[in-house]
Amino acid sequence: MPQHPDPEQPAAAATPSAQAAVERIAIHGDLLDLAAAPAWADPGSEAVRWRPDHWLLIEDGRIAGVQAQDPGAEWQRIDHRGRLVLPGFVDAHVHCPQIDMIASYGAELLDWLQTYTFAAELRHADPAHAAAGAERFADALLSHGTTAAVVMPTVHKVSAEALFAAAQRRGMRLVAGKVLMDRNAPEGLTDDVEQAERDCRELIERWHGRDRLAYAVTVRFAPTSSPEQLAMAGALCKEDPTLYAHTHVAENRDEVRWVGELYPEARSYLDVYARAGLLHRRSVLAHGIWLDAEDRAALADAGAVLAHSPSSNLFLGSGLFDWTALAARGAAIAMASDVGAGTSLSMQRTLADAYKVQALRGQRLTAWAALYAATRGAARALALEDEIGSFDAGCAADVCVWDWARGSVAERRDELARSLHERVFAWLVLSDERNLVSARVAGIERYRRGDPP
Ligand code: GUN
Ligand code: ZN
Repeated sequence: MPQHPDPEQPAAAATPSAQAAVERIAIHGDLLDLAAAPAWADPGSEAVRWRPDHWLLIEDGRIAGVQAQDPGAEWQRIDHRGRLVLPGFVDAHVHCPQIDMIASYGAELLDWLQTYTFAAELRHADPAHAAAGAERFADALLSHGTTAAVVMPTVHKVSAEALFAAAQRRGMRLVAGKVLMDRNAPEGLTDDVEQAERDCRELIERWHGRDRLAYAVTVRFAPTSSPEQLAMAGALCKEDPTLYAHTHVAENRDEVRWVGELYPEARSYLDVYARAGLLHRRSVLAHGIWLDAEDRAALADAGAVLAHSPSSNLFLGSGLFDWTALAARGAAIAMASDVGAGTSLSMQRTLADAYKVQALRGQRLTAWAALYAATRGAARALALEDEIGSFDAGCAADVCVWDWARGSVAERRDELARSLHERVFAWLVLSDERNLVSARVAGIERYRRGDPP
């Protein structure tokens, strides 16, 4: 996969602050990232790399190193002293068209899809609507500090095209694919096996491995695909193991019952995907609230990643995800906003919800485990650890600068923090996208607070 941004690439739709790739940039601030997976419930984890008042060196869009001393005038030095500098967040599961119906009232999953979601997605059949939506969505991710994402557009090929194009223009790392649905959905939102396969193949040819983009074979969920369509999707993955698979699993109890009726031969909901060849090292499965021990073992053994969507799970009343059971079995867990069932693209809000969900289960999620699942852990799960999620030398410089505190309550709390964990945890719980000062993608500033949208 080509890794460097194409210098020929026009910076269309970039904010006015975006600049041509600058050779050598040095950002001065409080640098925080994770060198490895932190242990569960360990606020003193040695996996944390805390380098306050340091310089992050960026050369040609990539991390060149970190140092305490001023690198000198050969570098474009950017003063963010007193601010928190983090790797850009990775959102492991989010729906591009659903920013139009986020925060819709009063329904569980299946009614919510019928009442609000499908109507919003139908509009993306129109190329102009899909293009405008994709541009808005990509800018919204960046303005929330998310520089990489695994995204569902709609069933329409044009919506996937628009999304890849919008991410490409911003140099973002994006995993996406046209949504597959050939039954149990309204007219205008279904495809069929043959057309869907043709569309997938064309999109893969055009986008998979191009710049920082990758294709995910995207079954929406088992109820909206026929067994034949699942088999086609699995065959695509088998043909090319560098493809991702992206879907929903075991989110809601009525949904799980329905899948049992539709696929009586499968042992479980997850087993429907396993039998179709859709459970593998590059599978991203959202939710997984209603998995059993055998499912957890299958997910871990396949090396797949569970995209945990706490905000969505609370909002739709889907249930309380059992993080510790899945982690204990060795499965990867990445953080996901799942907008528009999730109520914010902010990864801090998502992480704060994750903390509260675990609290309801009698567990405590540390700031380190939370941050890991939204940065390096997500990157590792997506087989992108050499590329994103940390300040390791050689990684792309996807970097966000945050205010430690905004407003009198957060400022006071920040002043009183006695340990690093206490400080970062309070930041996670009290901050949101309004704390974001600057977001860089492969070294280029794509969002700066105060710039006009
Ligand atoms: N299951 C199938 N489609 C969806 C969706 O759009 N959002 C959520 N949260 N779950 C789903
Ligand atoms: Zn979803």
